[in-house]
Amino acid sequence: MPAPVRQAAPSDDLREVYELRAELEYATPPPTPDLRLERKYQRLLELVAGTLPAPSLLDAGCGDGRYLAGIAQLADAPERLAGVDISERILATAEQTLARVGASAVLVRANLESLPLPDGSFERVLCAQAIEHLRAPELGVAELARVLAPGGLLVLSTDNARNYLTKGLNLPRSAAVRALRLNGRRRLVDFPHASFTRAEVSALVSDCGLTVERLETFRMHLQAPLGRPTATMFLNALDRRSPRHPWGDIVVVVARKPA
Ligand SMILES: C[S@@+](CC[C@H](N)C(=O)[O-])C[C@H]1O[C@@H](n2cnc3c(N)ncnc32)[C@H](O)[C@@H]1O
Repeated sequence: MPAPVRQAAPSDDLREVYELRAELEYATPPPTPDLRLERKYQRLLELVAGTLPAPSLLDAGCGDGRYLAGIAQLADAPERLAGVDISERILATAEQTLARVGASAVLVRANLESLPLPDGSFERVLCAQAIEHLRAPELGVAELARVLAPGGLLVLSTDNARNYLTKGLNLPRSAAVRALRLNGRRRLVDFPHASFTRAEVSALVSDCGLTVERLETFRMHLQAPLGRPTATMFLNALDRRSPRHPWGDIVVVVARKPA
């Protein structure tokens, strides 16, 4: 099936923002993730691995390519890997990240809200921490559902609006930051950023005709200066062993397109 003619979409004009962010913050490949410290990476990779084998996978909003590189090294890695990001600059980093592990992927610069990819072209789609940056998340998710093959699975994560564990742990720090008016001081580039409840994430994918197979939240963290490696490892180990709860930092859904 031919790729659709690309339509203008609401987040098109954010490209420059993400090019700048890529240049300032993602100009070089990330360090190899330490699974004891990187709970988000570890859990998302585990969830993706649980959906394999599959012939193809698209990482939508692939950033510096850390997930593509991790997936390429899995025993059941899909033969055809692709990544999409709004920033050309960050795709150059993704290419290097992949080369570091001897892997490659087709990398396409595009806005998730209007993908230049044919209908049903991937059996798996991963979208990690990208829809919260879109002006129209519902358009982005509709595009992910469109490019998913019938019977295929979407793994989508975003920020949980009800991340009460992390909010509770960081209450004293947040109060101090507010009192000293330091909010946002460390941010280099301003960009849109939303968060979603589990119900909103579930509705986003259901509204596109996908069936939710798993919906969970995970991770809690201490912010600097308390978020030292030992504290992070302890919280991650606790999170891994805890029964599932609705208050983690990340909400993730695994949803299937009807066959
Ligand atoms: C927080 S990063 C997540 C990157 C990667 N998925 C990860 O988890 O490491 C968000 C990514 O989405 C990309 N992005 C933002 N808006 C986008 C859009 N409208 N279309 C495609 N990519 C977008 C950014 O350039 C950035 O690489």
